[in-house]
Amino acid sequence: MDTWFDNTHPSLRHCFHPVAEVSALNGPGPFEIELFGQSHVLFRSRGAWTVLPNRCPHRLAPLTTGRLESVGSAGDGAATIRCGYHGWCFDAAGRCVEIPASGDGTIPPTAHLTPAAVVEEAYGLLWVCVDEPVTPLPTVVEWGDPSYGVARLPVQEWSAGAAQITDNFLDVAHFPFMHLGTIGDPDDRVVGDYTVSRQDWVFRAVHQHKAALIDGSGRIVDRTMEFECTAPHHLRLRLDYGEHGATVLLFFHQPVAVDRTRLYIMDLSTSRAGGMGDPRQAIDFQLTVGAEDRVILEQFPHKGLPLTAGVETHIKADRITVELRRVLGDLAQAAASG
Ligand code: FES
Ligand SMILES: [Fe+2]
Repeated sequence: MDTWFDNTHPSLRHCFHPVAEVSALNGPGPFEIELFGQSHVLFRSRGAWTVLPNRCPHRLAPLTTGRLESVGSAGDGAATIRCGYHGWCFDAAGRCVEIPASGDGTIPPTAHLTPAAVVEEAYGLLWVCVDEPVTPLPTVVEWGDPSYGVARLPVQEWSAGAAQITDNFLDVAHFPFMHLGTIGDPDDRVVGDYTVSRQDWVFRAVHQHKAALIDGSGRIVDRTMEFECTAPHHLRLRLDYGEHGATVLLFFHQPVAVDRTRLYIMDLSTSRAGGMGDPRQAIDFQLTVGAEDRVILEQFPHKGLPLTAGVETHIKADRITVELRRVLGDLAQAAASG
């Protein structure tokens, strides 16, 4: 049987996923978030975010039907969540602390919930790892460097798998076909040599080629593309135009359900990156490029990547996307044996 890596792969429970822009969380919650086709409830207690399964252990009501209550009088912001159905109450660690109908304080051992192992903020996003992490949060060396401005694209949801989308963003052979309207040069079809290296759960590819400045001048310059992918499917892509500056694109993906992925894309650019200085222009440009990818990706009947050799046909130019499959295969094994 063929093995596929899609948005419901069990190893994803051991990886970090962005679930929201921090600026969009307009209060302590509760908010619903979805990962791997499963609903979770997010709320804040004592200044820290917590994530619990959105399923009350009593009659399985979504806890997002409930409300937050503050605990004690110390005013330290501690909160519990009370189910909207029969009022069972859970603390931020998932412990059931009250069952009103019992009257005697008895709490069955199966009344407790298991919280997500890690919830943390990075890059203006909230990240969740549901079980013990196997892979790290992605690193962005340019983050915080004042020579880069940060522009965020609106959060998008595509009908495709996160691994599939990253596979597309890593792909160096599709530009003259999918991107004729933007970054594709119809005459630049042959993929030159490039290097791929890997360290633990991060792999890199460096591709040097000629590219047009993105200022509409059509001027061709030397450009270095540096792809850095952190398992399972987060990508930092640095486009270095030498004296014309650099752009760093961050593609972070939330595996919402088997056929849905939310994309958090950021553009970090130096003031003259590729000839384009205006962040609004950069956002519009990236949205147009992404729309060219999306229209084809959403037509794939399968929303994952095959891990079984022989299902696809690879050529030398595909070394970078073959590496993605290798890393995902290793992740599947590490999570299963860990
Ligand atoms: S379903 Fe939640 S308290 Fe009954
Ligand atoms: Fe593309």
